[in-house]
Amino acid sequence: MNYRHSFHAGNFADVFKHVLLRELVRAMQRKPKPFLFLDTHAGRGRYDLALAESGGRAPEWPDGIGRLWNAPDLPAPVADYVAAVRGFNRTCGVAAGTLRYYPGSPVFAQLLARPDDRLALCELQPEEAAALDRESVYAPKARVYPIDGYGAPRALLPPLERRALVLIDPPFEAGDEMSRVAGAVEEALARSPAAVVAVWYPLSARVATAPLFRLLRERRLAPTLISEFRVRADSEDPGLSGCGMALINPPWQFDSAMRPVLAQLARLLALDNGAGNRMDWLVPEAP
Ligand SMILES: C[S@@+](CC[C@H](N)C(=O)[O-])C[C@H]1O[C@@H](n2cnc3c(N)ncnc32)[C@H](O)[C@@H]1O
Repeated sequence: MNYRHSFHAGNFADVFKHVLLRELVRAMQRKPKPFLFLDTHAGRGRYDLALAESGGRAPEWPDGIGRLWNAPDLPAPVADYVAAVRGFNRTCGVAAGTLRYYPGSPVFAQLLARPDDRLALCELQPEEAAALDRESVYAPKARVYPIDGYGAPRALLPPLERRALVLIDPPFEAGDEMSRVAGAVEEALARSPAAVVAVWYPLSARVATAPLFRLLRERRLAPTLISEFRVRADSEDPGLSGCGMALINPPWQFDSAMRPVLAQLARLLALDNGAGNRMDWLVPEAP
């Protein structure tokens, strides 16, 4: 397991994922009852962008959060997301207006959590889990589980709160990773049929979405929206040109609210005219 998210932190894929994640958390919070946020592959929680610079390869954040940092007239969910990253940098003691640290999904969720919302943050790599422990101080009910995230639905669902938002964001290093994702989604929905489950995936010839999409389409386990986001046309370049999120049991009207936001975001982060987004139902909501 070699994956280190640091090189990618704050890139376009993180922007897409974290803007959607924040809106999912806020949608869960439309109801007063607390919920469990389960992050199966949580990462270290805080990424030092200065280290990404010194890694001997071009950092990816300048074409992600970097493009938005001082951009005017952002759509509200994107402006709020940038404000959250600014606030996090201030909390970390960085000079006002400077972008040094990028928060990961467990920190974005903690920064939004209400006192009774609970966060179960799974991270298998010991060093990353130890770092995440240090970054789990922003919400009273955040706890790190140094366990295999694929086993987390079985271990941690259904939650006492009876409401759950599950983020599955693996590194996709292994060839069979999407089959394991499909297994975790099936387990999560068997235990918590109304859970909102978000699965991030790269748009890459290397990662076939078929095992997950087949499960969802054929078994019709729950309404599912597919959101895909590209910053450029496919090319020989090894870098990622796009990514997607399968949104299972999405909040009501999430598609109509987020489509225009993502369209504007794709224009802001475009690398060529292949940039764009789509959001379609894989399994439609019952009429
Ligand atoms: C893409 S990163 C997560 C990024 C994070 N969700 C965010 O948005 O900030 C994937 C993480 O999964 C961890 N990981 C890899 N295999 C795992 C497993 N089986 N269970 C839990 N964590 C795992 C890696 O160490 C890495 O930190």
